[in-house]
Amino acid sequence: MNAQQVTEEIAEIAARAEKHADASETLDALRAVQGEVFGRKSRLSEIKKSLGSAPGDVKPVLGKAIGAANKRLNSIFAHRKAELEEQAETEMLEAERVDFSLPGRRHQRGRRHPVTRVIDEFCEIFFGMGYTIAEGPEVETDFYNFGALNMPKNHPARSDYDTLYVDHGGAAVDHGVARESEVLLRTHTSPVQIRVMESLPPPLYILAPGRCFRQDTVDATHFPTFHQIEGLAVDRGLTFGDLAGTLEQFTRQFLGASAKIRLRPDFFPFTEPSAELATWWEGRWLELGGCGMVDPAVFEAVGLDPEEWQGFAFGIGVERFAMTRYGIDDIRHFYRNDLRFLEQFL
Ligand code: PHE
Repeated sequence: MNAQQVTEEIAEIAARAEKHADASETLDALRAVQGEVFGRKSRLSEIKKSLGSAPGDVKPVLGKAIGAANKRLNSIFAHRKAELEEQAETEMLEAERVDFSLPGRRHQRGRRHPVTRVIDEFCEIFFGMGYTIAEGPEVETDFYNFGALNMPKNHPARSDYDTLYVDHGGAAVDHGVARESEVLLRTHTSPVQIRVMESLPPPLYILAPGRCFRQDTVDATHFPTFHQIEGLAVDRGLTFGDLAGTLEQFTRQFLGASAKIRLRPDFFPFTEPSAELATWWEGRWLELGGCGMVDPAVFEAVGLDPEEWQGFAFGIGVERFAMTRYGIDDIRHFYRNDLRFLEQFL
């Protein structure tokens, strides 16, 4: 065995391994190179094995050369391994990078419908006067919508309300129910007055906003679905002055301290006396709704003694009010669900 030759060969193996290690692009590839160089069947292992039987003078020379090669190769592999690990880490971070400069996805913020908004503001003012909210069904019986409100069958006032009747096979009419039980879509929120007085003892101060229905031909100011806000106060000793004061107070809070109201005689079967409520708005009187003192016949229908209790009620149309307030020229805009319209209201 020629020590010189083998030493050179070891140097060559080391040089080749260094080249291959540097050329390895992945940790797996580097491990493969490492296996080739140090593996049991590698040339280096063969040389190491032959060391035992080498002549005495060659042994130390070869031993030194192998030791040096081992040291060099180990440092080369360790170095390259660190490089590749760092590279892999960088690639991973790059791949998982979050770009904070990307514009976020906008959340669409909902807005209150102008009708809802008017109702909310309305209620807010009456909450301040001690009122609470009451609700009633939109599908009503003849009794609550008309009968208990002092409009028995054949009462002429009924023709003022173009009622939409619900055809459900007519069964309810023949069930021996004592009350008139014809089913209809409520034409006003006044039936809630009856439901409240039936279920709660006075004194009562309630507000009932809600949807109403009438068989109307659709045009710029008429729509078969619309909203009203009903108010009802029942207490001892209430007078028309309390009604007027309440409406004036409300109108001032809603439209501004200089707002004026007008009450003109009107007729409703369920209030006596009755009045039409109007407010001065941009140079003309704007009709807001009807009102009056609860008719004794209504108290009797719900079993309250009209000598002991007095009350007032009012019903205000929401859409026309909202139209005036926001300068909307067509009631149909409220129900078209056109976002260009709806987005104008906060
Ligand atoms: N319900 C009546 C209407 O819709 C309005 C009203 C309510 C009048 C309460 C008097 C009292 O025309």
